[in-house]
Amino acid sequence: MPRPIVATVHADALRHNLDRMRRAAQDARVWAVVKADAYGHGIERVFDAFRAADGFAMLDLAEAERVRALGWRGPILLLEGVFELRDLELCSRLSLWHVVHTEEQIDMLAAHKTQVPHRVFLKLNSGMNRLGFAQHRFRTAYARLSALPQVEEISFMTHFSDADGARGIAHQTEVFARVTADLPGERSLCNTAALLRHADDAAVRGDWVRPGIGLYGSAPDFPTHDAIDWQLLPGMTLSSRVIGVQALATGDSVGYGSQFVADAPMRIGVVGCGYADGYPRRCATGTPVLVDGVRTRLLGRVSMDMLAVDLTPVPNSGFGSEVTLWGRAAGGQILHIDEVAQAAGTIGYELMCAVSARVSVVSA
Ligand SMILES: Cc1ncc(COP(=O)(O)O)c(C=O)c1O
Repeated sequence: MPRPIVATVHADALRHNLDRMRRAAQDARVWAVVKADAYGHGIERVFDAFRAADGFAMLDLAEAERVRALGWRGPILLLEGVFELRDLELCSRLSLWHVVHTEEQIDMLAAHKTQVPHRVFLKLNSGMNRLGFAQHRFRTAYARLSALPQVEEISFMTHFSDADGARGIAHQTEVFARVTADLPGERSLCNTAALLRHADDAAVRGDWVRPGIGLYGSAPDFPTHDAIDWQLLPGMTLSSRVIGVQALATGDSVGYGSQFVADAPMRIGVVGCGYADGYPRRCATGTPVLVDGVRTRLLGRVSMDMLAVDLTPVPNSGFGSEVTLWGRAAGGQILHIDEVAQAAGTIGYELMCAVSARVSVVSA
């Protein structure tokens, strides 16, 4: 028998979340962002649910090839563009649209021999200072690209640093609007947070939105809002089972470092899930977990292959009881990944991407 830990990808939830994004996007088209192997869910597993999107966006050429291999004939966008000249051959062959964020990528396009002119998204650094042309270089980049026979159509794009937080997006949208003001072409600005929080404004929605995390059911701005506020459903469940039960007397401790000490007699369950499965070791006593759908808490330190949970609120539980580390229990109860991520001092994105290769993944 394999260990009982399983990651389940919920196609119904992914479809629901895409629909939610589409409603927020109104008349804008929706890229389904599937970078990092669909945020850890697996491109092949999410493809069917997301084929109602208008396009797929990712970073890796190999991931773009996988989406084409699944039969997708619509738009695919490489969010970081190409890394070397020969990548452009694949872009030509697979009709990939690509971001251009640096002069070197324009040089590569100029050197690329192709019969098929490319669609590119010229990226402005409007304040995040990650990728993109600085404001004063943007027009020159546009002029260079426009003059290339290798380029068929130029669209414009930027990315927000604070769409999920207090600073917001106004400082960046002002820059984007000013720098691209009279340039003809489609526009793309929004990630999930911008789409859910700021897209009442048609100029912010633009022509294409680029939600990632919301598609997978995590709130982009937790704890200000949670997945329920945004009407998102968990795209993934990480579940396992109780593989052992211990009865503790007052003063007994649990696990490495004796981090938890019982102040009364209690029953604990030992669960087949540890940090080698991708469950964060930083989660401490009190981190929420569901046993047979009932909310209880982690106890003590997470070890490589096991962790312990308090069975006090679940008196009928025992060996084999279902444990939901995050996601949806068999009875429908939900533990949102954002709560677990918060307990680990991180975000839902990191947890879903970190589920390890030894965990079997199934589709539901
Ligand atoms: C350029 C770009 N667009 C869109 C996204 C999707 O962002 P999110 O997952 O926050 O919706 C990302 C993710 O980091 C990104 O880098």
